[in-house]
Amino acid sequence: MRGVILAGGTGSRLHPLTRITNKHLLPIYDRPMINYAIESLVGAGVVEIMLVTGGTHAGEFLRLLGNGHEFGIERLFYAYQDKPGGIAEALGLAEKFVAGDRCVVLLGDNIFERSIRPCVDAFEKQARGARVVLSQESNREHLRNLGVAQFDSNRRIERIIEKSEKPPSDFAVTGVYFYDSTVWEVLPALKPSGRGELEITDVNNWFLENGLMEYDVLEGFWGDAGESIPAYYAVLDFVRAHGVNKPT
Ligand code: DAU
Repeated sequence: MRGVILAGGTGSRLHPLTRITNKHLLPIYDRPMINYAIESLVGAGVVEIMLVTGGTHAGEFLRLLGNGHEFGIERLFYAYQDKPGGIAEALGLAEKFVAGDRCVVLLGDNIFERSIRPCVDAFEKQARGARVVLSQESNREHLRNLGVAQFDSNRRIERIIEKSEKPPSDFAVTGVYFYDSTVWEVLPALKPSGRGELEITDVNNWFLENGLMEYDVLEGFWGDAGESIPAYYAVLDFVRAHGVNKPT
């Protein structure tokens, strides 16, 4: 399975911290944010990775990561996103890299207490389609900034609702997504959302509508360090106190 880490975007919710650097290069305790995403994939056995970034600080990633060997990556590729056109647009840049393989996509601002290896293993066994990873979150205000799963009576996800004033459940959709090669047929049909971006939630809803989506529920802490400055510091405090990417 190939790994795709998305580290573009403007980081506007972390302004002014992100006026002088890319969000994913900001420190989380003793390492730049992006290092945690890499550890997460490498710790799950995913060692062929493409990093998608953009903006004026893209060169700094090369300086930090080089060929990736120091971090356990066997082959590290880079792609440049011209403008922040959305998560799904950024993923499209990885099509040739993933080629006929399957992929795990990780948002570079997501931090996980526990290893995502069980999810990787589960997708290896899944016959086809896609997989999302949920995290239970009791804070309604937090859920309003995220994609949230809506379940049917059989506890299957029927739809993912993005950034709703009325989140349909307590289960947030985290920034780790698994796809088979069908995803490359879904991406070209996407239309920009109200915020002018190609949304990953539209991709995931396509798989849901076609009965091709499975899910896992995470154990342990999950944080989106890019959500706001308080969220960034909450993640930093957690990492400092407890450590992350722990084997299960
Ligand atoms: O963190 C989980 C959430 O991530 C999910 O619950 C939402 O469903 C999903 O839409 C996403 O929401 P965000 O609003 O947090 O996404 P954001 O715009 O912050 O982008 C997340 C990462 O994707 C960010 O770390 C950088 C990367 N990205 C984003 C954009 C818009 C790109 O590489 N290129 C882009 O154009």
